[in-house]
Amino acid sequence: TQRTATAVINVDIEGPTISRHVYGHFAEHLGHCIYEGFYVGEDSPIPNEGGIRLDVVEALRALDIPNLRWPGGCFADEYHWKDGIGPREGRPRMVNTHWGNVEENNHFGTHEFLALCELLGAEPYISGNVGSGTVQEMSEWVEYLTRDGDSPMVRLRKANGREDPWKVRFWGLGNETWGCGGNMRAEYYADLARQYATYCRDHGDNKLYRIAAGASDADYAWTETLMKQISCFGCEATPKNFFQGLSFHYYTMAGSWDAKGSATDFDVEDYYRTMVAARRIDRLIAGHSAVMDCYDPNRKVGLVLDEWGTWWDVEPGTNPGFLYQQNTLRDALVASTHFDVFHRHAERLVMANIAQTVNVLQAMVLTEGERLVRTPTYHVFEMNKRHQDAASLAVHLVTSGTGRPVADGELETVSASASVRDGELLVSLTNLDAEAATELTLDLRGGTVDEPTARLLTADRLQAHNTGDDPDAVSARPFDGVTRTTDGGLRLTLPPHSFVTVAARLR
Ligand code: AHR
Repeated sequence: TQRTATAVINVDIEGPTISRHVYGHFAEHLGHCIYEGFYVGEDSPIPNEGGIRLDVVEALRALDIPNLRWPGGCFADEYHWKDGIGPREGRPRMVNTHWGNVEENNHFGTHEFLALCELLGAEPYISGNVGSGTVQEMSEWVEYLTRDGDSPMVRLRKANGREDPWKVRFWGLGNETWGCGGNMRAEYYADLARQYATYCRDHGDNKLYRIAAGASDADYAWTETLMKQISCFGCEATPKNFFQGLSFHYYTMAGSWDAKGSATDFDVEDYYRTMVAARRIDRLIAGHSAVMDCYDPNRKVGLVLDEWGTWWDVEPGTNPGFLYQQNTLRDALVASTHFDVFHRHAERLVMANIAQTVNVLQAMVLTEGERLVRTPTYHVFEMNKRHQDAASLAVHLVTSGTGRPVADGELETVSASASVRDGELLVSLTNLDAEAATELTLDLRGGTVDEPTARLLTADRLQAHNTGDDPDAVSARPFDGVTRTTDGGLRLTLPPHSFVTVAARLR
């Protein structure tokens, strides 16, 4: 069958801005994400600044990471921030009961995290402890971080070497409070969210963006219970904004939670099942948004997908509690199709955080001792970074022969999104078909383009991945297959299982 697709884009009709924060990241005290990933300690032979690995920083800086969520995840709800400040040798130790039952020495704490964010040029997103902490503890953390002048927590911060307050906007009110964050009912947590939000104060000109812990997957009832708390019918001028954002989590896997599938040893059927699962994110965002629209029609509360990505069975021989997995071309295509969905939902989706940046789940980089490997997913983030804070452009896809039967449904194998920023058009195109190429026409209306350039991410096999010995097996390469159509559009052939970006100046 001839597979063709036309993407109709009105380049002069700008839609809502794609928040750069949908390109956010997540770093938890889990496995080797923090220790041996981001942080090796000052005495390490690996080049570091204050213990923070400089090769990791350099690799991630190229992604323009907008924000970094920390310290969890499930770990956040057993983390007590005062254990992670002051001279490192004196910091109390604890057991990380959720992730591998290993000892946590608290050497990476508040100051180290904020230093990491400064090195990355990323905004911090701190997830506070609701599950096993106290209102006072969380309130004091905010004071310690963001208050200026003189106060008990300010004096403590200064005694620990930091004179000026940090700017901390994003604040999580717990994590997965329906599960590892306290096993609460939505009604109970809704009250706690209001209570904790009350005492997480805005100090000086630091305005918190409080994010309530939200649903898993399609638990729209949870979202509704939380949204009722900000209901403001007839009170448009003074809505009761206990929280400004509401989160939800969704992970992609080929199988079930009990048998998620291997990261590298999978067949084409597993691949298609994965892509069907990945595509589900569209319905989930639409579903949560629809509930939010009922209570917040003016879209004042942001939807925050602060955990997403692929979750596979751990690599054989690694600690099952460390969630270490390889990352193939399949993972990259899961990421690229998620971004198309994020761009389409720019009006409600204000932030998303892939889990997790280094050495855990769908990572950007994997470290092997002194070596660092950029994963295929890394390249998607890099190729797409100019969508950050760009105006979204609607893409109307007309396809022929690109649907593929999977189980009892059909998978559309072409995915696309587009944006414009500073007169530069960026179009992202994914061909999910495992075997067949697709001829794609960009029907550009309302403007013409100059100097189109394209980049391609693909490999001969879906299972291809990067290793220390072969770090660039899957990496972005220039793609010179773009031609012009007679009516000012562009045409290219998307190779099987590929991701392509096309950039051009608008005239
Ligand atoms: O990202 C791994 C874990 O997944 C997080 O700690 C938790 O929030 C979620 O269940």
